[in-house]
Order: sequence, then structure tokens, then C-alpha cells
Amino acid sequence: MGFSLYLLTLHLLLSRCTANWCYQNQNACDEPCRDPNHWATQFPKCGGLRQSPINIVTSKVHIDIALSPFNFIGHTDTINMTVENKGHSAHFALPPSVRFIGGALPGHYRAAQFHLHWGGNGRPGSEHTIDGERFPMEMHIVHIKEPYSSLAEAEHDTAGIALLAFLFEETADDHPHLDTVIDALGRVQNNGSITVIPNFRLSDIIPAAKDLQGYYRYVGSMTTPGCEQAVAWTVFHRKLAISSRQLDAIVKQCRFWTGQPMTDIFRPTQPLDGRIVYSSKSGTAQTTATHFWCLFLSFVTVTLGLAH
Ligand SMILES: *[C@@H]1O[C@H](CO)[C@@H](O)[C@H](O)[C@H]1NC(C)=O
Ligand SMILES: *[C@@H]1O[C@H](CO)[C@@H](O)[C@H](O)[C@H]1NC(C)=O
Ligand SMILES: [Zn+2]
Repeated sequence: MGFSLYLLTLHLLLSRCTANWCYQNQNACDEPCRDPNHWATQFPKCGGLRQSPINIVTSKVHIDIALSPFNFIGHTDTINMTVENKGHSAHFALPPSVRFIGGALPGHYRAAQFHLHWGGNGRPGSEHTIDGERFPMEMHIVHIKEPYSSLAEAEHDTAGIALLAFLFEETADDHPHLDTVIDALGRVQNNGSITVIPNFRLSDIIPAAKDLQGYYRYVGSMTTPGCEQAVAWTVFHRKLAISSRQLDAIVKQCRFWTGQPMTDIFRPTQPLDGRIVYSSKSGTAQTTATHFWCLFLSFVTVTLGLAH
């Protein structure tokens, strides 16, 4: 009796150890869990050669003029969005009417959810870094290629998942529409809790596609176990705004499934292993065109002015 109880306890302890992965700062002696350096022991794909996130070295990106603009569909629709604390992060569920085509990706992509990666207490928490710089927060919108309906189905297609990533930069002013998201996080403090944000529009947070023509593209993976290597990554050049007040509020509210504060929820950057990061031409191209028109218009104005 005593011995089987011992075995049962041992089994429970062991399954607790092996069943849960965690982020670096969760790994405490009394709550052993697999931190990012040990994900691959349980999830072999996490040790693969096309892992995410990465550090983007801007002097080494290859400009690719084939990286065309996105065409977003459903971003201005009003939705009742379910938010759930998943134990490692909070997911904001998106309906399949939110989708995109274009972005030099093959086919139609349906949105599944978005989530945020953040730091804590003034520490930045983006997953991707640019020239070694980590940004305060990063938003990932997860899209699945049609006709797949789950990650498991899309996993065998190297572009089965499209992840759109937005880096945040700290601004003096609040982001005007982020407070509904922050309030919702305050209602899902514990693993498994659920709430709804009524009348949400993705376009309140994400700029229109015409303002997002500059982006980085590379092939990589999911940044949480099982690290499936089926992701076409898009990291937009344009940063989204968040104030320090809003950042503070975001990192303070949720708890991991272990009950610890949910902070520093990002995976360390992974080796490129020979991959190339591409960048669309935009940004620079657009400024040049704008410059040209400004010059042209001021020339016309001056000429007309002189004629008078
Ligand atoms: C959102 O919920 C409200 C209240 O329950 C409902 O009236 C409305 O039709 C819902 N909107 C959508 C798009 O489902
Ligand atoms: C979080 O809670 C759900 C039930 O809502 C449970 O299935 C899941 O295992 C929990 N997550 C973790 C990491 O313990
Ligand atoms: Zn993510």
C-alpha cells in the first residue's frame, strides 16, 4: 500500500516534470519545469535548424522586390473576441472571416488568434530582436493556410502557418485602442479563465495594409513547443505604439499556470543556421517617391508663384 502510494506520487511528480514546458524565469527549485534550453529534450523539433525567433541583422538582409503588399480581409469587421489565459500566454481568438492574401505567400490564410510576448518591470520582451535590440512587446497574429484547419494539418507545409509580427515601441502617449486589451487581460488572470471583448476591430490595433509595405520575411518555426517548422514569418518594419503606463499594466496582471506572475514570456533568439532574411523594398522606395513628388510640387508652386 505504502509502496504503491510512493509509486503513484513518484509518477505524478515525474509527469509534472515532463509534461510542462516553461519560460526561463519560471524555473524554480520547487517547481521544476523545462525551460527553453531544454525544450528539445521533450519536443525534438525545438532543436531543429529553422527555429524562431531570430535576431535580424539589418545590414545582412537581402532586398527582395517580389515581397508584395498584403491584402487584409475582415480587419475592420466588428467582432466579439474571446480571450483565454492559456497558462503560458493569453490568446485572443479571431474568427475565420479575418484573413489575408498576398504578402508573396501562396494562397489564402485564415486568422486563428493573436497573442502578445512581453517582458516585465521595465524589461523588454519582444521575441525578435533587430540588430540586437529587444523591443518592449511583440504581437503575433497566427494564420493557417487554407484548406488546413489546425496546426497539426498545416505542420507538413513549410508555409502552412503565416505569422505576422508587430514590434512595439514605447511612446509618451497611450495607444488609443490598447486599453480594452489590457482590461481583458485583467479579467483572465489565471490559467483557463476566459472573457470576451465586445465590438473589437483588428484595424483599431493594426495599421492598414497600405501602411505596412515594409517587412522582413524568413522561414522559421512556432516559438513555443512543439516548435513546428512550418512558419512563413513576416516582421513588419513599422512599430506599434505603447506607453509605459500601458506596458506596466500589461505585465502585471496575468499569472502562469504555476501561479507565478506571467512575465518575460519570450523565447531566446535562435541561430540562423544559414537562413537568409529578406526585406521588401518599400520604406525607402516610398520615401524616395514622396520626396520626388514634394520636390516636383514645390517646383510647380515656385514656378507658378514666379509667373504671378
Ligand atoms: C456581439 O455580442 C452582442 C451582445 O451579445 C450581440 O448583440 C452582437 O450581435 C454580437 N456581435 C457579433 C458580431 O457576433
Ligand atoms: C491550464 O488549464 C487547462 C484547463 O483549463 C489545462 O487543460 C491545462 O493543462 C493547464 N495548462 C497547464 C500548462 O497546466
Ligand atoms: Zn508568439
